[in-house]
Amino acid sequence: MPTSSYTPELAAARLSGLLESAMDAIITVDPQQKIVLYNRAAERIFGWPLAKVKGEPLTMLLPERFQASHAQHVTQFGETGVTSRRMGTSEVVYGKRANGEEFPVDASISQVDSPEGKLFTVILRDVTERVRAHEDLAAFATQANALREQEKSRVARELHDELAQSLTALKMDTIFVRDNLRADPQRVAAKLEDMLAMLDASVAATRRIAADLRPLLLDDLGLMPAIEWLVQNFTQRTGVACELLADEDLELHEPYATAVFRIVQESLVNVAKHSHATRVEVSIARDGAEMTLKVQDNGVGFLPGTTRKPGSLGLVGMSERAQLLKGRVSVDSAPGRGTTVQASIPVQDEGSPP
Ligand SMILES: Nc1ncnc2c1ncn2[C@@H]1O[C@H](COP(=O)(O)OP(=O)(O)O)[C@@H](O)[C@H]1O
Ligand SMILES: [Mg+2]
Repeated sequence: MPTSSYTPELAAARLSGLLESAMDAIITVDPQQKIVLYNRAAERIFGWPLAKVKGEPLTMLLPERFQASHAQHVTQFGETGVTSRRMGTSEVVYGKRANGEEFPVDASISQVDSPEGKLFTVILRDVTERVRAHEDLAAFATQANALREQEKSRVARELHDELAQSLTALKMDTIFVRDNLRADPQRVAAKLEDMLAMLDASVAATRRIAADLRPLLLDDLGLMPAIEWLVQNFTQRTGVACELLADEDLELHEPYATAVFRIVQESLVNVAKHSHATRVEVSIARDGAEMTLKVQDNGVGFLPGTTRKPGSLGLVGMSERAQLLKGRVSVDSAPGRGTTVQASIPVQDEGSPP
């Protein structure tokens, strides 16, 4: 670069161009911590025009509770002789906008000696979006975790209630058989019959618990046949007519298929357990990017939101499942008017993240 064209005026103009085009707020304060330089990005972020802040104390840009400690930090920094460092390494730093709103910032501070004394320059950026995204992610992870825990505790309960009890009974029966084999062969034969029946029931329970853990049907058959099976199985067990309305060839990939399967499954369990319905309708439809599923019964109904028993996870679990996929579940019910559970879930095509 030819040095002859690089005048102090040009340097100043370049510097000012640089300051004004920066995305980050750049604020310089004099030794009394009065604002002497304040760029356009600072105007945008803090909401104060330059005219309103020039010559004013820096504290006007800080929440009240940080004002005292901030001045102290800057003085301490001035004494270190370090030329620049990041601010708030141990805690989040906040700024305050003209409208009083607080926001988290990423900031670094530097110092230079000038003829007027020490000047401090803070370069900062509004990180509200980043902090919010972080919080959203954390909330999402917590929810996903809670759902997994619920499922685990349900499986644990079933293992305990069904299998552990049968096995304990079978052990006692085995002892009986061992001790009475010679003395009372007739009673032993009868006992063996009971034991066989109990073993059959235990095998069935094991299959059911395993299927509950992961709907194998879904893997084997695909979504719609698996739903058809749920509906038929419901009618067989309860004798209640259940109609299924859906596109035969509606196919959803994971995680949507499992969510739909579980919501229908849980809704039908509720219909069987609570509704005394005589008719049920399950409908599943996809309209572009949104999937809607509805389970409607003509049973006794209830007042949603009022009957939640502690430890009952059905409706809550359904909502959480839908929320994890950015969807929602609404329950429409009133005593005597039947119940409709409706889930709407936005579906993304395979390959794109949910
Ligand atoms: N289809 C329905 N008909 C009538 N009442 C229902 C129905 N679904 C849910 N409920 C009511 O809502 C409550 C909460 O349901 P849920 O969260 O699944 O818990 P649980 O089934 O373990 O009781 C039930 O106890 C019941 O009173
Ligand atoms: Mg339930």
